[in-house]
Amino acid sequence: MVVALIGATGMVGQVMMRVMEERALPVREFIPCASPRSKGKEVKFMGKSYRLGLVEDAIKAKPDVAIFSAGASASRKYAGAFASNGTFVIDNSSAWRADESVPLVVPEINADTISKSTRIIANPNCSTIQMVLALAPIHRKYGIKRLVISTYQSVTGSGVKAVRQLKDERAGIEGEKAYPHAIDLNCLPHGGDFTENGYTAEEMKLVNETRKILDDPEIRITATVVRVPVTGGHSEAVNAELSADFSVDGIRQLLSKTEGIVVMDDPAANIYPMPRFAEGRDEVFVGRIRKDTSVAFGLDMWIVADNLRKGAATNAVQIAQYLKDRKLV
Ligand code: A2P
Repeated sequence: MVVALIGATGMVGQVMMRVMEERALPVREFIPCASPRSKGKEVKFMGKSYRLGLVEDAIKAKPDVAIFSAGASASRKYAGAFASNGTFVIDNSSAWRADESVPLVVPEINADTISKSTRIIANPNCSTIQMVLALAPIHRKYGIKRLVISTYQSVTGSGVKAVRQLKDERAGIEGEKAYPHAIDLNCLPHGGDFTENGYTAEEMKLVNETRKILDDPEIRITATVVRVPVTGGHSEAVNAELSADFSVDGIRQLLSKTEGIVVMDDPAANIYPMPRFAEGRDEVFVGRIRKDTSVAFGLDMWIVADNLRKGAATNAVQIAQYLKDRKLV
């Protein structure tokens, strides 16, 4: 297939190229793009060098698939033009996720929401993807009534500038800031902009995207998103109130059988998921599975994944592979 990548110089864009290579996505022609600031630069893909182009030229090339990871405003500006040329857009930004006509897809859960007439497919937010992968089988079997989520999110989720800020602070360099405060030796309870209801945009993504992907608007959800000085992945403490009784072993078995999940749960041997283990991996790791003794049918879990891989690039590439497998491209 002919694939355009919008945002090829970005944190996620770079990982997307590596994941396409690793998974040997059948790419016949590759069209990498970035902003006009990157004009003349090159990227390496499948052993070849490619000069970065402008999005306008990529639209004219009518690729089969355009994968976007260049922020919501670029997606809003250009996705429609690709779509009206017949291109499938896989968009990693928040631009289309809430749109009812746009499927919000984690392939293992709801690839069937993509149809022949779909043209824009939204890739969910990183912290949502890793969480719903673990929650979907639990919701199907036991019914989730309420979720209380606390995240410990990697700086890689805020892009190149944020990783540089952490490195600069560690090296004692006064550089450009991606966050309103120091991130090293700190925790920022501030993911995305604050919204009118007191939650941040990242917190509301967890609420709304989880309901959409699990196809259940009734689940009550509250979340606190915290940015931590970590680069390997996002960690999440997830408390779920279920509708039916369960055993911890039953949950372990259910998750062990779930595609894309690795259960790492042997506290006596100090085995539990951590971002240092998850970095560079495509799986979602779950541990600290236990009963919440404060309510009936309460479940606590600790969910960790590399936010640049399953949380972004891998999920998008899996969607592209699905389009190919289903002969939609
Ligand atoms: P550039 O490197 O030219 O700025 P990150 O989130 O890691 O900072 O990456 C953002 C990505 O989106 C980069 O590849 C960036 O390109 C790209 N980008 C930002 N704005 C646009 C735009 N208007 N058109 C195309 N690409 C864009």
